[in-house]
Amino acid sequence: MKTLMTIAMAIALTSAVSLAAAPTHDYVGVSVCKMCHQTAKNGEQFQKWQASKHAQAYKTLLTPEAAKIAEAKGIKGKPSEAKECLECHETGYDVAAANLGPKFNKEDGVQCETCHGAGKDYMKMNIMKDQKLAAANGLVLLSVKDGSAQKFCETCHNKKSPTFKGFDFAKMWAQIAHPVPSK
Ligand code: HEC
Ligand code: HEC
Ligand code: HEC
Ligand code: HEC
Repeated sequence: MKTLMTIAMAIALTSAVSLAAAPTHDYVGVSVCKMCHQTAKNGEQFQKWQASKHAQAYKTLLTPEAAKIAEAKGIKGKPSEAKECLECHETGYDVAAANLGPKFNKEDGVQCETCHGAGKDYMKMNIMKDQKLAAANGLVLLSVKDGSAQKFCETCHNKKSPTFKGFDFAKMWAQIAHPVPSK
């Protein structure tokens, strides 16, 4: 996950703001983002995420199908504990417990912070309202338009995924898009 975030930050930095060094930030978990991102006016990002497969990504590793895939790959033990699976199915799997907030739940799979960066330092209202300040505090600004979003998706949606059947960005983005309606 750290490598994914580094890629995302590198992409975000070249396209938006520039920072001297990427600082590290703590994860807070999707239930914290939910507080401000669940109203119809703001675009119900929480509900859209919750209805998506990303919300199930960790739970998928608990299924018999996942156990079969792991076994075929020679992985010892449970897929829900294997780095080889968690790297794409769980946010923050390789982050020290001290850097995961009290509301953070690994069972939430691929969360907001997987794509938007660890939120502890940008989630405050006064910071969130200022895009530059938010980016300086760890918000990763991906963009569909400039291609950085697609590049980031493909850090997981690729041939390393045992069940990969190709990735049609436009089609896949349409399934998880969560715009602010006023924009
Ligand atoms: C205290 C309320 C609050 C919390 C908590 C919060 N946000 Fe926000 N967020 C906002 C507001 C307000 C905006 C600005 C919306 C606008 O531009 O109209 C925003 C904007 C954003 C944007 C768009 C930024 C841009 O300029 O394109 C993203 C992405 C985002 N939030 C992600 C998150 C994530 C991920 C979390 C959890 C880690 C989170 N937010 C937590 C209030 C919040
Ligand atoms: C951290 C890894 C990761 C990233 C980054 C990621 N995904 Fe996913 N995505 C997954 C996993 C894992 C699943 C499967 C979840 C499951 O079924 O349990 C998935 C499933 C999906 C699905 C459902 C597919 C289906 O067959 O129903 C869509 C749509 C999707 N992702 C779109 C995207 C898009 C668009 C992006 C980029 C904006 C993206 N994903 C970025 C890991 C990721
Ligand atoms: C490189 C990232 C990546 C890795 C590593 C990865 N997955 Fe996935 N996984 C995905 C993505 C993305 C999807 C959804 C689309 C797809 O199948 O490519 C997915 C989907 C799945 C599904 C649902 C398939 C379906 O048809 O609904 C299962 C089960 C699964 N993965 C199990 C595993 C197991 C077990 C491991 C470890 C051995 C693993 N994955 C490793 C990215 C990954
Ligand atoms: C799979 C990656 C992914 C996940 C998970 C994800 N986002 Fe996003 N989000 C994006 C991308 C990519 C964009 C930029 C869209 C664009 O360029 O139009 C975006 C844009 C946004 C925006 C700005 C929308 C606008 O119209 O300006 C907000 C707000 C936001 N996300 C909040 C959230 C919240 C809150 C969550 C969790 C509940 C979340 N996102 C989960 C990838 C993701």
